[in-house]
Amino acid sequence: MTSLRARIAILLIVAICSVVGLATLAASRALQRPAPEATMEPLARHLHLLADVAVADPVAAQAAGLRIEDTPATGTGNDRLTRSLSGISKQMGHDMPIYVTNTGDGLPLTVSLGLGDTGWLIAEIPNLTPPRSAWLIFFIWMSMIVLGSVVVALHAARRLTIPLELLESAAERIGTDGILSEVPETGTVEVRATARALNRLSQQLGTAVESRMRLVAAAGHDLRTPMTRMRLRAEFIEDDEERGKWLSDIEELDQIADSAIRLVREEVSRDGADVLRLDVMVEEIAEELGEFGHPVRCGDLAPLSVRAGPLALRRALRNVMINAATHGGGADITLSKDKGQAVVTIRDTGPGIPEAVIGQVFEPFFRVDLGRRKTLPGAGLGLAIACEIVERYGGTLTLRNAEPHGLIQQLVLPIASADEGEG
Ligand SMILES: Nc1ncnc2c1ncn2[C@@H]1O[C@H](COP(=O)(O)OP(=O)(O)OP(=O)(O)O)[C@@H](O)[C@H]1O
Ligand SMILES: [Mg+2]
Repeated sequence: MTSLRARIAILLIVAICSVVGLATLAASRALQRPAPEATMEPLARHLHLLADVAVADPVAAQAAGLRIEDTPATGTGNDRLTRSLSGISKQMGHDMPIYVTNTGDGLPLTVSLGLGDTGWLIAEIPNLTPPRSAWLIFFIWMSMIVLGSVVVALHAARRLTIPLELLESAAERIGTDGILSEVPETGTVEVRATARALNRLSQQLGTAVESRMRLVAAAGHDLRTPMTRMRLRAEFIEDDEERGKWLSDIEELDQIADSAIRLVREEVSRDGADVLRLDVMVEEIAEELGEFGHPVRCGDLAPLSVRAGPLALRRALRNVMINAATHGGGADITLSKDKGQAVVTIRDTGPGIPEAVIGQVFEPFFRVDLGRRKTLPGAGLGLAIACEIVERYGGTLTLRNAEPHGLIQQLVLPIASADEGEG
């Protein structure tokens, strides 16, 4: 958000400064004084008129206010104007020495016109060259514009990004159940509208999730009664083989209904969490699975503690370990520490999961292919339940295929500090 805000602010500052800068330059060009040469001819004519008056009657001319001196005026010579005025003078048929001198920055210029024996006529002409401080004024003007536009741009960028900021913070607060927490509907019109839209979305999402859970739980529960009836009826089938098939199918159905109810229970349950020794738990589950004939081996297990609900975490670990043992033909488990997190890695050397569907395995009831379903019973809920549990305790569950074959399942949970364990 900071970078978006900075980009908007920079864009606004650049836009304002370029527009004002260009407008200032254009205005200063348009309002420029006339070139000195353009004013030279009338000036020369005027000077020669005065010179004629001064030569004809110097006393009267001085009495009328003309300055006639013995020497030309002092000061720094202005070569460009001297040359230009002398040239025009010559073109007008006068051959008198002319000097233009600067008397000071911003002051009028002095023209000295040689009158031969009469002396020098000293006259002032306006100095039309721009003052040297023009650039300084332009610089101060532009600095004020930059400063002003920074303030305006920062304010505008902040106002523009408030709704996005709200979205960002709301997205960060999405719980593992996918529901947003209530956003306060206060502030400017845009903020209130965004907050209202988010709250409405969250409400609809909550209702949809709730009804989905209710549906799954109800279906799982309602299946139980007809299944019990079916089991009773199946017991009366005389053919042993046929009866066995019926009973095994009913058993599988029963498992599916059970898992569905468990998934719903995991989603709604918010049990308290304890600090648990993850290595001890992994070892116990491996032992337990081994007793049921599942090929599970433990490698290095670092002594790490995590904060989680014991029953739920046990269920999550059991689900992924059983998957490696059944779908992957055997589980190799290690527990290590990485960047303050406990990482349980479960490897197998089975067929893995096709890349095209690996993103779907956390979806409830998803199973990879029909061929495998026949040989391995299951509801397709084990990973959905495990993921739900791990995320609830601030962790992640990821699956990736191994080379040349097999699957690597990684369960990452934040390590609980030793002090927490004592509490
Ligand atoms: N280690 C693995 N190797 C290969 N495929 C796997 C592995 N783990 C999971 N899968 C595939 O992902 C699918 C979903 O797994 P999940 O645990 O959710 O369901 P399930 O094992 O079929 O049923 P259950 O609900 O009994 O766990 C499985 O059906 C299987 O096809
Ligand atoms: Mg499973």
